[in-house]
Amino acid sequence: MKILVATEKPFSKKATDGIAAIAREAGYECALLEKYTSVDELKAAVADADALIVRSDKVTADVIAAAPKLKIVVRAGAGYDNLDLAACTARGIVAMNTPGQNSNAVAELALSMMIYMARNQYTPGTGSEISGKRLGIHAYGNVGRIVARYGKALGMEVSAFDPFITDPEVFAKDGVQMVTSAAELYKNSDYLSLHIPATPETKGSIGYELLTSMPQGATLVNTARKEVIDEAGLAQALSERTDLKYITDIKPDTADQLSEKFGKRFFTTPKKMGAETAEANVNAGLAAARQIVGYLKEGITKFQVNK
Ligand code: 3PG
Repeated sequence: MKILVATEKPFSKKATDGIAAIAREAGYECALLEKYTSVDELKAAVADADALIVRSDKVTADVIAAAPKLKIVVRAGAGYDNLDLAACTARGIVAMNTPGQNSNAVAELALSMMIYMARNQYTPGTGSEISGKRLGIHAYGNVGRIVARYGKALGMEVSAFDPFITDPEVFAKDGVQMVTSAAELYKNSDYLSLHIPATPETKGSIGYELLTSMPQGATLVNTARKEVIDEAGLAQALSERTDLKYITDIKPDTADQLSEKFGKRFFTTPKKMGAETAEANVNAGLAAARQIVGYLKEGITKFQVNK
């Protein structure tokens, strides 16, 4: 059996060494394809792979067609919008993610982004403090819950909305105010931290109306996905409301225009770095390798996302 680790954005060496050790112990081979620059390289590498570990790498129907032996693909991370699940299912390939394994890294980045904007991107001048401000968490999953906890530790008033959680106790036990609509959340958040996945329902769902409903001086923080933002609506909102700010870890398609027009009210990291910590690499990478061994040896499908 051969496990291919195909990561355009490589894991740390400690993580790839750990993955190789898990493969070796199971009696499997392990191959690495890092920093590849074309789909053809990926297609060539998957030709003899039984299992595949990826990050945000796109596993399209085309890639799957080039992998005749593939039995399992694991997205080492949370969001699996980069996997063609229908194509996996059609071939009987199990698709998994590794939920929670890189959440702390993303949550820390989200908090740091709030402070970065509150302090004028670390340039001279009077900034503000995030303590005492209202923090809204849009989607209360693994990352959202940690952001809530850290926000509370910093003295923020935390509210959350999650369309799939209706039990108030889930929020109450964390000391978080439950909100029952996105509209209500945005209206009452000085900082809004986005943690929704990119799905057909969420794509383009954050735009002009929600943004312009936010309080004076509000900041939207996106460590989730680029696709959930309606970029035309965002630009319109930032034009009309010169107090609003947007910071993102996923470079918008219109990043250059946003930078030019809105200066310091907009910031994007050059390349998604939320999960770029040694700890997250090890957690997610090793979990992926263990899940592959668990599936191939014992049929364990706990984290399957295409059931
Ligand atoms: C995730 O969904 O787990 C994060 O967006 C991290 O993505 P990455 O592995 O490409 O850094």
